[in-house]
Amino acid sequence: MIKVQNLVAAYGGNVVLDDISLEVDPLEILVIMGQSGCGKSTFLRHLIGLQKPRSGVVEIDGVNVTQMDHREYRTFCRSVGVLFQSGGLFNSMTVGENVAFPLNEHTRLADPVIEIVVKLKLQQVGLPGVEDLMPAQLSGGMKKRAGLARALALDPTILFLDEPTTGLDPIIGAGIDDLIVRIRDIYKATMVVVAHDIASSMRIADRIAIFRGNALIELGTPEQIRASTDSYVQQFLRREADKPDEGGYAADLLR
Ligand SMILES: Nc1ncnc2c1ncn2[C@@H]1O[C@H](COP(=O)(O)OP(=O)(O)OP(=O)(O)O)[C@@H](O)[C@H]1O
Ligand SMILES: [Mg+2]
Repeated sequence: MIKVQNLVAAYGGNVVLDDISLEVDPLEILVIMGQSGCGKSTFLRHLIGLQKPRSGVVEIDGVNVTQMDHREYRTFCRSVGVLFQSGGLFNSMTVGENVAFPLNEHTRLADPVIEIVVKLKLQQVGLPGVEDLMPAQLSGGMKKRAGLARALALDPTILFLDEPTTGLDPIIGAGIDDLIVRIRDIYKATMVVVAHDIASSMRIADRIAIFRGNALIELGTPEQIRASTDSYVQQFLRREADKPDEGGYAADLLR
């Protein structure tokens, strides 16, 4: 479904991702984890063709997203749902208008039909009746859900979610986890989800990819990740700070 080959991503001279290769199977939920700043959001933006790689190939459903023309890109956008890390809602539009946005962009549905779809999508993410509110009137968790409703507007078969639960309290976060798994089942969707919370990732992931520095250091099922012999992976799972006398990231900070 998704095939990444030797992806190199850079901002100017700063190589953020170096030679990343992985595949995501149909209906799989792949969770991307790694320290803040290691390039998870950058990776996601390359998967959806928003950023062009320095080198390497990203293929989605047989289409090379790094070389799409405008027309192909529009078709691609039609089958893909994206939740950006910040939620990405347009602040000047109501929640309803936000969810309707992709429908207005990509379909010729009549307004009353769009209204029904919007209601349905908001209901699906557990936010019935908020169409007329402005994003500023929503709580953090509600904003994420509204962003998710917008990502679902076009009945996508591929979903990219950047930190859908980060910053939420554990109960609301667990609710969104359940929702993610349910959405995969209802939409028969393939998902790439960036997440910070280990328990939550273990719960929803079919496989987990762990990035470190600019490399992919581990990729496997939650069981395989738990059993990893990589000392960084174990440290990451235990949420331990580096020991200053052994060098590493925290040691750099303390210097
Ligand atoms: N638009 C940009 N221009 C230049 N550098 C950038 C840009 N976006 C990100 N970077 C750099 O690329 C690196 C990876 O950033 P990215 O946002 O992908 O990390 P992340 O893993 O998503 O972090 P977080 O967990 O904090 O969201 C960082 O060092 C960041 O400073
Ligand atoms: Mg990020």
